[in-house]
Amino acid sequence: MSNHDLAVMVLAAGKGTRLKSNLAKVLHRAGGRTLVEHIVRSCGPLKARETVVVVGHQAEQVAAVVEPLGATTVLQQPQNGTGHAVLVAKRPLGRAKFALVLPGDAPLVRTETMKALIAAHRNGNAAATILSAVVADPSGYGRIVRKSETAVSAIVEESQLTDEQREINEINSAIYCFTLENLWPALAQVKPNNKHRELYLTDAIAVMSGKGETVLAQVAADSREVLGCNTRADLAEVDRILREWKRNALMDAGVTMQLPETVLIDPDVTAGEDTVIEAGVQLLGKTKLGARCSVKTGSWVMESRLEDGVTIGPFARLRTGTQVKRGGRIGNFVETKNTIIGEGAKVPHLTYVGDAKIGAKTNVGAGTITCNYDGFQKHPTTIGKGVFIGSDSVLVAPVRIGDHAYVAAGSTITEYVPADSLGIGRGRQVNKPGWAAKKRRELAAAQHPQKSSRRSERKPRRKTRPRK
Ligand code: UD1
Ligand code: MG
Repeated sequence: MSNHDLAVMVLAAGKGTRLKSNLAKVLHRAGGRTLVEHIVRSCGPLKARETVVVVGHQAEQVAAVVEPLGATTVLQQPQNGTGHAVLVAKRPLGRAKFALVLPGDAPLVRTETMKALIAAHRNGNAAATILSAVVADPSGYGRIVRKSETAVSAIVEESQLTDEQREINEINSAIYCFTLENLWPALAQVKPNNKHRELYLTDAIAVMSGKGETVLAQVAADSREVLGCNTRADLAEVDRILREWKRNALMDAGVTMQLPETVLIDPDVTAGEDTVIEAGVQLLGKTKLGARCSVKTGSWVMESRLEDGVTIGPFARLRTGTQVKRGGRIGNFVETKNTIIGEGAKVPHLTYVGDAKIGAKTNVGAGTITCNYDGFQKHPTTIGKGVFIGSDSVLVAPVRIGDHAYVAAGSTITEYVPADSLGIGRGRQVNKPGWAAKKRRELAAAQHPQKSSRRSERKPRRKTRPRK
């Protein structure tokens, strides 16, 4: 379906008072993205002629999120309500015939649902088509008042409900399709008749319906899609749902997950078939996992790339720019950053590697640390292939270790170790025969002077003990 006659309008100027935050509501994050980014991305496939985002609070920051996605912005200052926000965007909508209007705080709506709403609007020759939802708890939302099975007479906001209307459990999602030649005259008639003295877009519905124009409401198949984020609890709920959808998508693509509800995965993460993700794992940023990887419990991976057959964790921390080649292994309590681990190389325990390049089949012993930072600058560590780094070694960067070299355990390596050599950088061991035994005797003598005289002191004490 072509949408060259359709403009998309996202209302994102509000502060979000109920969140009690310094950050504008639409910049809050759920499911790994800001709310407004979710919405603008979901609108992308509609291929509308224009996507206009109405900005106000922290307008520059909101623009910085949506403009790279191809949207234009228009400033609403001050924010006099959702109806006012739509009026502000009148000129940028250009010559569109229809507008799909969405709030910036309801990020769960799917592209398919928007398409269905637009189709219903076109097919019904309507002035307005509202996406509604039937919910168990409608509190906080505007209610849909119907005059017949198909036609809507009004949307009534929570604060203006009669007792009878309060029972209605069909709510307004604040997602609508409008025919603009009907919307503009209706909005011109809306008055700020509410305690906030705002122009409500919802009031335009009663105006249109009153004129005998067709106003439809289409009920969303999944009512969760219309959840708006007005409170922190709403944000947590929306985050939970987005995370669940992401996990399900990966499982559909052939990934095994243990206790999936404990696993947190950002939207841009990809993973290949037969990869296994254990409980309590976090995969963040643009992380890419190959096929047959194993990410063990408690591991945290940010902006990293694991090739096929890589094993991570338990409890590994892979920071930005970690790359593990085919069959590589990072074990427990290992931290990596901006590091390439070669094919089949192992960093099995208790290690920090930063700004390093580790060759194929190299083994990095427990407790190895790359000292990559001198307080001013970061420096590289380059380790060749087939190298053995003994446990508890300190590699002071910049430093290089050649192919197939050995580093003796406990070394502090500050200079180049040539290929096939042994690098030892530690104090030579000295043994002092009998030293420990002599020390023990001296300590014992200092603690217990004249053991025999003490024994004789005990006797008179016993004699003087009173009898019952
Ligand atoms: C709105 C609807 C309500 C619906 C609910 C669904 C109105 C009057 N009410 O209520 O019927 O059930 O959404 O989530 O529309 N905004 C602006 N400029 C403004 C005011 C708001 O851009 O002057 C933006 C906000 O940033 C937000 C969106 O419009 O993204 C909706 O505003 P919000 O205050 O969240 O409206 P609700 O009270 O949720
Ligand atoms: Mg809202």
